[in-house]
Amino acid sequence: MRKKIIAGNWKMYKTASEAAELMDALKKDIGGVSAVDVVVCPPFVHLGSTVEACKATSIAVGAQNIYWEEFGAFTGEVCGAMLTSVGVKYVIIGHSERRQFFGETNETVNKRTKAALKHGLKPIVCVGENLAEREAGRTFDVIRDHVMGSLSGFTKEDMLKIVLAYEPVWAIGTGKTATSQQAQEVHKFIRDLLLKMFDRATAEAMRIQYGGSVKPENITELVAQPDIDGALVGGASLKADSFAAIVRNSMN
Ligand code: 13P
Repeated sequence: MRKKIIAGNWKMYKTASEAAELMDALKKDIGGVSAVDVVVCPPFVHLGSTVEACKATSIAVGAQNIYWEEFGAFTGEVCGAMLTSVGVKYVIIGHSERRQFFGETNETVNKRTKAALKHGLKPIVCVGENLAEREAGRTFDVIRDHVMGSLSGFTKEDMLKIVLAYEPVWAIGTGKTATSQQAQEVHKFIRDLLLKMFDRATAEAMRIQYGGSVKPENITELVAQPDIDGALVGGASLKADSFAAIVRNSMN
């Protein structure tokens, strides 16, 4: 039985005081939840304070990126040792916004994922097709390319530490959620691919989150699908009431 995982990706939102306010409210509401894994992923500058805020709660903290090199002259980058030194446990890697605006490729996703594992961080590796690719009937080709390219060279043991996130780009921030059937179809495709790449035990143990316009109103149906193991939430994770409601509704 895979434990569900609900993660909030705050993207480039929240000043320090807004982040503290959000965490205060989340702590009161869902700070004791243990039936699902709850993760919040603030921008780098708020990681330390968010870890502090999460002390004595069951909420874990994730970063939104990681550089693959160790310490060095890499202005503007943040390495694995820095993340673990402030208590970060997860890291989002290869989000479509990074693939689209910052030149992220399967190869760099692969390097970042290796660096995360080396430092004991749990990577949340994102894959997903854009609208043109879906309309051209290329969804499965793109997903196969993202999964195989991003996850090449890992052992079964590595894979068990990785969470995958299927985020159709056309459903991100658009209010257009993939139907639960559309999402399930791709999640099943990914699980079958993992079976071919590794083995049945690995494919069945790995968690695959859905992301793209997840709301309190659609999470229950999404996680009722056999291969959807939670959600990576953008916009609705920025308000305590909607994120807490998503966490609660994922347990129904
Ligand atoms: P929205 O929930 O705002 O569509 O964003 C999804 C996402 O990109 C999470 O990583």
